[in-house]
Amino acid sequence: MHEWKVASARETALVAREIAALLLPGAIVQLTGNLGAGKTTLTKSLVAAWGVDSEDSVSSPTFTLIHEYGEPVRVYHIDLYRLETPREFHGLGLDDIFESGARVLVEWGEKFAPLLPTDRYIVEIEHAGGDARRITLTDRR
Ligand SMILES: Nc1ncnc2c1ncn2[C@@H]1O[C@H](COP(=O)(O)OP(=O)(O)OP(=O)(O)O)[C@@H](O)[C@H]1O
Ligand SMILES: [Mg+2]
Repeated sequence: MHEWKVASARETALVAREIAALLLPGAIVQLTGNLGAGKTTLTKSLVAAWGVDSEDSVSSPTFTLIHEYGEPVRVYHIDLYRLETPREFHGLGLDDIFESGARVLVEWGEKFAPLLPTDRYIVEIEHAGGDARRITLTDRR
């Protein structure tokens, strides 16, 4: 497990570069953390670090559940916050996405942990007072 303690969003972006280097193509990443912890902020930095053109910046896909970056797609950013049932999960065609070979970042993935690939990374962001955060990267593969 890797662990970082950061004091600002700027420092989170720097940590994202280190994390990006550890996550190879095909990596499935569960992004876990409370509302406003910084999951989407971290995603933006990861996509940039992988050199993927994100056109308009990556916005929290609250209504669009799946965002695709790159042509062909190199990063999928999925937000399961509003998803409620396994049926909805399967309806999104996520299983194909997990096997696509692209990197896949899943916000609120823990809601459907049993349905995610067992071989995955978990990035957890925890509030640590103000703008401080504790960030951990666990390799479950
Ligand atoms: N150390 C930090 N790391 C990341 N974001 C930070 C940090 N300090 C402050 N912030 C701010 O906290 C907010 C995090 O919002 P963000 O949308 O990334 O969170 P989220 O975890 O994706 O939330 P949600 O669960 O609603 O999707 C941003 O406004 C960001 O600027
Ligand atoms: Mg978010």
